[in-house]
This record gives sequence, structure tokens and C-alpha cells, in this order.
Amino acid sequence: MARMKKDLLGLEGAGEREINQILDMAASMKEIMGRQIKKVPTLRGKTVVNMFYEPSTRTRTSFELAAKYLSADAVNISSSTSSAVKGESLKDTAATIAALGADVVVLRHPMAGAPHLLAGTIKPAVINAGDGAHEHPTQALLDLFTVREKKGRISGLQVAIVGDITHSRVARSDIWGFTAMGASVRLCGPATLIPAEIERTGARCCTRMEDALEGADVVIMLRIQLERQRQGLFPGIREYGRLYGLNRERLALAARDALVMHPGPVNRGVEISHDVADGVQSVINEQVTNGVAVRMALLYLLAGGGAVEAAD
Ligand code: CP
Repeated sequence: MARMKKDLLGLEGAGEREINQILDMAASMKEIMGRQIKKVPTLRGKTVVNMFYEPSTRTRTSFELAAKYLSADAVNISSSTSSAVKGESLKDTAATIAALGADVVVLRHPMAGAPHLLAGTIKPAVINAGDGAHEHPTQALLDLFTVREKKGRISGLQVAIVGDITHSRVARSDIWGFTAMGASVRLCGPATLIPAEIERTGARCCTRMEDALEGADVVIMLRIQLERQRQGLFPGIREYGRLYGLNRERLALAARDALVMHPGPVNRGVEISHDVADGVQSVINEQVTNGVAVRMALLYLLAGGGAVEAAD
């Protein structure tokens, strides 16, 4: 097995071998999650600190569960309850966490590049749990894991990503991840929400949803960031839903067995209709479950655990 880097900061520049190593480990972790007692002593004595400076349900909870299933100690810190409110800098808070004995620091931060800053200054491994509009690599890895599990491959698939591409860290990590694994990526959204330079990544852009969906094997719908509406970057919510919402009629343009994905949280009735979100092609809840397996794999690989316990 190839040696992992010290940190997981993003998927830009990641190769197929490195990604497959993580996905293969996640498959072993998912087997543990299926056991009656889903706990192994692999990371006993290790400490994982979740530093979340932005709200999160899925990512924070799944990192905490992942640490606990591997018997690591898990501690949660939020900006509102840390000494950040007293003016302590992120670097000083992280240095304090490192001095307290953390082995892994999981950081979500509104500033792009915050995890990179910490990775260069503290000894514990740093995992990027979402930095501004930059990257969300663990979300992309769980998306890749879900597609590989469902389709048996990633290479050669047509992946459509629809929504606010400009502000989406999920879109950016998905583009790098799916492209590295040999899939073709199409991006779709209002022209105001697609960055000018994005086609340099190898993804193709379109502004008509029908063009993005035609024959797609995977449809990833992004959360419309309602907070952007004030900036006038997209028309009203109803207009957005009419032009870029995924409903049953539009989904019929994709491959018959296309997967419907969404990183959550979902604005039902805006970017996706209720019946599609809950339909047979939707794997939204499986993405959440797989998120725990992927984060267990990353904690294992970065915290340098021993052998994973075999099933009884
Ligand atoms: N997908 C995602 O990052 O969700 P949370 O904001 O709930 O962590």
C-alpha cells in the first residue's frame, strides 16, 4: 500500500491510485459498520479533534462516529464555544489543540486555505472538512465511493453537476475526483454561477439543464445557496427551480439507471423535487452512510492505526 501524505487538504492533483487506496479502505470500514457491534480497537489511544467554524450536521457527526467506531477519543470544538470568541487566532487555537495531544485535526472553516495554513504549522494530521468555496474532499470521496459501489466503476461514466458551481466546494472537489478517476464531468447552472476558468479542469459547461442531463449516469444536484440571492446572482427561487430544478420529467433525460445524488442539506422543491429526492434512483441517504466509512478510512490512514480487526 502506498504511503498516505500527512494531511488530506483537497483532491486537486490527487491520482487514481491514491483515491482507490482510500475507497478500498472505506469498503473494509463499511464491513465493520455492518457488524452487530460496530467498534474495533484500531485507533485506541488516538485523539481526533473536530474544529468546526461553520455549521454542519453530516460531516461533523460522521467524523465523530467514525472516530468512535475506531475507538479513538473524539472532541468537538465550535467557533462559538472556543477561545476564538475572545480573539484567539485559528493558528493559536490549533497549536493549543496540538499541545493537548491531538493526533488528527478535522477543520471546517469559512476561509479558503485555512486547513492548508494549519497543516504547515502543526504536527497532527489535518483533514479539510470544507474550506470556504474551495474544496470539500471528504464529500467528494464519499460521492466517489457511492458511485463505485453502485455502478462497479467510475471510469467512462458521464457525471452531471448542477447548481451554484461558483460557490460550491463540493463541486470543485467532485470535479477533481471524478476527472482523476476517468469520468467525464458536465457542469450546469446559471451563467452567473459558473466560473469563467472552470473548463480548464477538463469539465464541460452548459447553461441548459437538458444538455447536462442527456444520457448522464450520475446527476449531482447542489444546494442552492439562498444567501447568494441578495447578491442578484440568480433569479427568484421559483425561477431557479423552474430552470434548474430536478424533477421526474427532467430525470427521464438521463440514463435509465442514473444515480441521483445531493451532498445535503437539501432545499426540497427548489433544486430537487420531493418525489425525485425520495425516489428509487436517489442515493442521498446512502451517501450519508458511506460518509462514515470514508471518514473511518481517512482517520485510519492518517492516524497510522494498526491492522483492522477481522470479523469474528
Ligand atoms: N454535505 C455536507 O457537508 O453537509 P454538512 O454541512 O451537514 O456537513
